[in-house]
Amino acid sequence: MSYDIAVIPGDGIGIEVTEATEPLLIELAAAHGVEIETTWFDWGSERYLEEGALMPDDGLETLKEFDAILLGAVGHPDVPDHVTLRNLRLPITKGFNQHICKRPSYLFDGVESPLRGYGGGDIDLVVYRQNTEGEYADVGGREHQGFGNEVAVQSAVYTREGTEAIVRAAFEAATERSGKLTNITKSNAQAYGMVFWDEIVEEISEEYPDITVERLLVDAGSMDFVRRPNEFDVVVASNLFGDILTDIGGIISGSLGMAPSTNINPSGEYPSMFEPVHGSAFDIMGEGIANPVGMLLSMSLMFEHLEEDDLAETLWDGVGAQLADSDAPRTPDIGGTATTLDVVGDLEERLLE
Ligand code: NAI
Ligand code: MG
Repeated sequence: MSYDIAVIPGDGIGIEVTEATEPLLIELAAAHGVEIETTWFDWGSERYLEEGALMPDDGLETLKEFDAILLGAVGHPDVPDHVTLRNLRLPITKGFNQHICKRPSYLFDGVESPLRGYGGGDIDLVVYRQNTEGEYADVGGREHQGFGNEVAVQSAVYTREGTEAIVRAAFEAATERSGKLTNITKSNAQAYGMVFWDEIVEEISEEYPDITVERLLVDAGSMDFVRRPNEFDVVVASNLFGDILTDIGGIISGSLGMAPSTNINPSGEYPSMFEPVHGSAFDIMGEGIANPVGMLLSMSLMFEHLEEDDLAETLWDGVGAQLADSDAPRTPDIGGTATTLDVVGDLEERLLE
């Protein structure tokens, strides 16, 4: 098999983890008889600062031809965050209807959780985040700027189609996993959209009588990600809540730098996109110490999506074995002193030599 992959390293540590890991992706695939051809796009904040746009007008047309997209991260100290997000990542996720965002949080053997008493495998959950609507809908506006009656309106949008799709994907995942699903909303305060969401969960649950459904409000749910993360299996949540919960999921599993993410267009009409959960990390960019694991696991999930299960497993298990080895290099966020390139180089030896 052969695949054409679009690579958008983006900004900051997005560039660092992408450049460090892409050669390994290609070599590992080749060792399994799979050909990967990558095309790099220098889209991101530097382009915005020079040319006034993060990506060209026909960016989506260009990306459409690829089998999948890898994204590092976007975000730059000199560009407002809403500009970077709304001009690259959101146009791609929305333009390609990548409405399913699946984000696993797994505590690997050999990695210390900041939470006391959890060992390898004790935290093993997956968040299904609605990825194209909800609180990230581009619906709202600002008026009367500079006057006393200045006003900002930001609306959330929940469609039956979008909500049913993410809820159904979560139920399907729960069927494959341990049979438990937690629905996290805030329907006491958001009595239209989130009550609607809860009703859809209720309706679809009737098709899955064997799945145990737990319901939590997001404030208590966030607390329980810290208090009892071992009791979660599949979690379904809106765009904003899924975003927040998966940063918590990342840190309780050792580091945000190890959390992978997927943006799936289930119909296959458009390419899906794979990226680490983390951003461009202004505080460590340029130091060469970003943890590459989030990107590597995202690549594993890309292989899974491409139905290259063997490659997906080899990469995931390889990362797991490296983390379990206390002599292996690790980056400072998980207690080591190694660089991004040290970690990838060591993994390359383990997987290819
Ligand atoms: P962030 O995820 O970039 O960083 C949060 C914290 O986690 C920082 O202390 C950082 O050093 C640490 N961290 C993140 N990834 C790491 C890694 N691989 N290795 C070691 N430590 C890591 O979030 P922050 O600081 O809120 O955002 C920075 C910029 O990134 C902003 O412009 C934001 O809008 C953007 N961003 C972009 C995303 C994307 O492109 N998908 C996602 C999240 C944020
Ligand atoms: Mg996020």
